Amino acid sequence: MTILSVPLGDRSYDVHIGTLTAEETAERLAEAMGNPSGVAVLVDEHVAEVSPRVAPLLAALAARLPCVRMFRLPRGESAKNLAAVERTCQWLAESGYDRGSVIVGVGGGAATDHAGFVAAIYLRGIAFALCPTTLLAAVDASVGGKTGVDIPAGKNLVGAFHQPCVVAADLGFLGTLPGRAIAAGMAEVVKAGLVADAELFASLEAILGPALGPERLPAAVARAVRVKIDVVSEDERERGRRAILNFGHTFGHAVEAASGYELLHGEAVSLGMLAALALGEARGVTVPGLAARTRGLLAKLGLPVDVKARVSPAVLDRMEVDKKRRSDKVRFVFVPRPGEAVLHDIPLAELKQELQSAI
Ligand SMILES: NC(=O)c1ccc[n+]([C@@H]2O[C@H](COP(=O)([O-])OP(=O)(O)OC[C@H]3O[C@@H](n4cnc5c(N)ncnc54)[C@H](O)[C@@H]3O)[C@@H](O)[C@H]2O)c1
Repeated sequence: MTILSVPLGDRSYDVHIGTLTAEETAERLAEAMGNPSGVAVLVDEHVAEVSPRVAPLLAALAARLPCVRMFRLPRGESAKNLAAVERTCQWLAESGYDRGSVIVGVGGGAATDHAGFVAAIYLRGIAFALCPTTLLAAVDASVGGKTGVDIPAGKNLVGAFHQPCVVAADLGFLGTLPGRAIAAGMAEVVKAGLVADAELFASLEAILGPALGPERLPAAVARAVRVKIDVVSEDERERGRRAILNFGHTFGHAVEAASGYELLHGEAVSLGMLAALALGEARGVTVPGLAARTRGLLAKLGLPVDVKARVSPAVLDRMEVDKKRRSDKVRFVFVPRPGEAVLHDIPLAELKQELQSAI
């Protein structure tokens, strides 16, 4: 097991990564919680149904902590809306959970975003712990304290910064995750390598097969989490450097939305990273050939790489609602070479035109 610490003063916490037993996970969570008055375990309903790891985890928590009860969240993204948040808060109140209670979020990034947001607002804020069950949630969503839900105007437009007290990423949960979702999570691992860890990027390129075996996955996850921790601990509220984690997301979000969310987030990020690298090469910011190398790696991992097929005026227009936009400029992330990222503010009209010709 790898333990990484997120250094944020009195809000610091540990991230435990590995194939953990239910006992180990419960032990880590109980240690971090201290003496809670109750523990509300919010679980993605699909995970509760298909994963053999949920029941033992609940039993192990109940053996150590008071008032452990489970509440099922709607599956995946359908948990990320204000109506679902209200239902969870209502259940917490009716069940008597008070300020001394702790929430545990179990599921993918949607469930962890929901659980964190509920913890940020229930009784004006209570503590929470996370057990990510997808690769994307393990490497990205569960770490860093961004919580929130979607509204009809757009994804993640309502939320709060609220850090968990501990994250236990039991990679055993990935056993029931479809291959497509694993590949989508790998896109974020590639992103971490590209923006801040050249060695991680090189080690992914060196893999022969499409997937990392159980002997290599934990190390790659830990390196990607390390990148996120380094960036977040320097810029918790995304006032500057944290924006480098949005590499591939400007075009990615636009493609994801334009596909009607048929593309998984990581698949859209794969296309977004390739678009950003092509634009970087066209502008002379990115070393020539990096787009082709990355395309080879992403294709090997089973991710979509045909950017040309996805670009259209409608997609480019979607970039206008991107949260990263400041007045008429977009803060765009470029990767000059693996392990390095820079931010450029580009007028939206210029960006659209350049992207179209670079792709
Ligand atoms: N807070 C952050 O910093 C941050 C970062 C990245 C992404 N996100 C958010 O994360 C969400 C995407 O997360 P995701 O990709 O994990 O998807 P998800 O949470 O929507 O889960 C995808 C599907 O996988 C299922 N699932 C989850 N774990 C499973 C398991 N172990 N076995 C079988 N099925 C399982 C879910 O039920 C769901 O149907 C988005 O809402 C995104 O905005 C947040």
